[in-house]
Amino acid sequence: MKININLNPEQITRLEKICNEKFKNNSETKTFHFKKLEKGIYLPTFNLINLYNTVKNPKFKDKTSIIDLGSGDGRIVFLFSLIGYYSIGVEYNEHLCRLSDNIIKPRLILEGFNVKKARFKQGDFLNEDFSDYDMIYFFPGGFNNYKELEDKLIKTMKDNSFFLVYGQKHPFEQLRPDSLWQRLAGYQEGKIMVYRK
Ligand SMILES: C[S@@+](CC[C@H](N)C(=O)[O-])C[C@H]1O[C@@H](n2cnc3c(N)ncnc32)[C@H](O)[C@@H]1O
Repeated sequence: MKININLNPEQITRLEKICNEKFKNNSETKTFHFKKLEKGIYLPTFNLINLYNTVKNPKFKDKTSIIDLGSGDGRIVFLFSLIGYYSIGVEYNEHLCRLSDNIIKPRLILEGFNVKKARFKQGDFLNEDFSDYDMIYFFPGGFNNYKELEDKLIKTMKDNSFFLVYGQKHPFEQLRPDSLWQRLAGYQEGKIMVYRK
């Protein structure tokens, strides 16, 4: 798979716009912002350009696969699919799953976005094995099972994989923040922490 880290920022902005519009116009999901769903609070990652700039760093150059833990409307999965990653999202809420897979994905494809390989799975990400992924992304809205998640990551994540978490402070005890990268990206580029095992 060819990785393209030279996306046009306008394409990313358009992707966000389509996700926002489809979310807002979908009767099943339109009230979900800040809402407590079965497994946590739903909110989308706000600034995809910021995340994109973070992963443009050469540190990520040999990475080709990602899983988004709780993929919401799917925007993270679509962004990485556009870059050329093998991308999958696991989302517990069935309405959000349908929105991403059956509504947003076809719309993006219709507009010429190369996201055919973006995949979604309905279920609990705590049941996943993370060993197939170079990157694991997580935006923990109202999540409170950090211990179980961390144990699972320590057990199944590859040694050279990165765990990217939106926000700056998380109660992990064993995962190591990548400090140099943290200085470069975590503070200057925005609110994304990068951990390794
Ligand atoms: C804050 S939103 C983030 C959405 C998306 N990752 C993004 O960044 O735009 C968190 C999502 O995780 C989902 N979620 C929380 N715990 C989960 C679990 N254990 N398994 C699957 N999905 C979960 C919620 O339903 C919600 O849609």
